[in-house]
Amino acid sequence: MTQEVGLIIGSIHPGMAFNVGSKSSLKTPFGLPSSPVLSVSFGSNRVACIARHGEDSNIPPHAVNYRANLWALHQHGVRQCVALNAVGTLDSGFPPGELAVPDQLIDYTWDRKQTFRDSDTDELVHLDFTEPFDIILSERIAAAVKAAGFSIRSGVYGVTQGPRLETVAEINRLERDGCTMVGMTAMPEAVLARELGMPYAICALAVNYAAGRGDEGLDIHSQMERYITEGLGRLSAVLDRLVPDLCASV
Ligand code: HPA
Repeated sequence: MTQEVGLIIGSIHPGMAFNVGSKSSLKTPFGLPSSPVLSVSFGSNRVACIARHGEDSNIPPHAVNYRANLWALHQHGVRQCVALNAVGTLDSGFPPGELAVPDQLIDYTWDRKQTFRDSDTDELVHLDFTEPFDIILSERIAAAVKAAGFSIRSGVYGVTQGPRLETVAEINRLERDGCTMVGMTAMPEAVLARELGMPYAICALAVNYAAGRGDEGLDIHSQMERYITEGLGRLSAVLDRLVPDLCASV
């Protein structure tokens, strides 16, 4: 069955109580995706879902086969894609536990495949990436977050290489650059979706204060554990509103 709404789920995947129907393992010209494409139902609607870090959560951000993931979803009939990303926050106005829809990004990653067109015979294209996230899809995510009764932020997503977390000096630099949040996976996911012509936007859950920020009294890993657990209910409530809305319009 063709499923036109796609979901890419990051580190919060293991906690999501999804109702998974079929699983299809698609090999792509770029290799294997992180997981089979899972058909997940939300009431009467089904979406095609990939677990970004694998079904066993063992693929680190720099080793994710982003090209295979996006290609597999597209092959599966996905025509718009929502990503759920855990992020660290640099902004005390966006504390851990809260949700954001980033409106810009800065890419600090390196050595990741950023294009499907890497052969000499492909036409040279300089993709327009002025707006890295689809504006309409972002607005619909924000509307679903509000409808679920939560506040929503926006801001700049700084994409770091990982898999280690950042130093305080690196976070200071990201702040000077204008980043609101930091994560490791928005790139090259966003640009590959753009290359496929697939609207793509992120619903980010802040799961910790970035290095040297906040006064939680908890180390970063304890914050992550706590806020991922707390955020799961929020994300489910958002998806329960968002998925029917998106499925009704494709
Ligand atoms: N840094 C980078 N990526 C992250 C963080 C962080 O603090 N938290 C969740 N993903």
